[in-house]
Amino acid sequence: ATVRVVDHPLVQHKLTLLRQRERSTKGFRQILNEIGMLLAYEVTRDLPLESVTIETPIQSMEAPQIAGKKLVLAPILRAGVGFLDGMLSLVPSARVAHVGLYRDPETLEAVEYYFKAPSDLVDRTVLVLDPMLATANSAVAAINLLKQRGAQDLRFVCLLAAPEGIARLQAAHPDVPVWTAAIDSHLNDHGYIVPGLGDAGDRMYG
Ligand code: PRP
Repeated sequence: ATVRVVDHPLVQHKLTLLRQRERSTKGFRQILNEIGMLLAYEVTRDLPLESVTIETPIQSMEAPQIAGKKLVLAPILRAGVGFLDGMLSLVPSARVAHVGLYRDPETLEAVEYYFKAPSDLVDRTVLVLDPMLATANSAVAAINLLKQRGAQDLRFVCLLAAPEGIARLQAAHPDVPVWTAAIDSHLNDHGYIVPGLGDAGDRMYG
């Protein structure tokens, strides 16, 4: 599957603001939401359209609308929630699946603590949201859970990715394309993205 780096100047500028260590919790949260909005615009760019007949005040016409069922946004808790409001402001009718995973600090394995998704995932496009793609343990686990519940058409949206994480995700789920604002250098011994922006969940929620 493809990896797309969203190089839009607004995204790149806002990412730089997020990386800065002095960025406050309030600023971090706000900017992450703004980037969520811009990433939602990019990740929905190729959604298929269908034609419907509508009535304008003047006459009837054939007009495009997005085909199929409503999208599902699937934030990985906690940090993925940082994208949610921004994305919902562009796609206000989307359904939401909450995927609770934390990364064990020793093993770096993803541990499930919550999962609640709409029942009809099978014929919907699911956008899996997590600002950080580090080892990809969390992303792989979240996509496993969503596929177990029937999801077949998934896209992964992140802010920062490590090359190791991209490789792992593509090996585990080659059918899932990835959108990211940047691909950083590497992971450090603690599984943090370098140079990265620190721990997104902590910077947002404390
Ligand atoms: C962090 C981050 C991602 C995950 C990325 O979550 O927010 O979800 O780790 O790492 P991975 O690709 O190696 O799995 P964390 O476990 O710190 O939880 P939090 O979002 O609640 O802070």
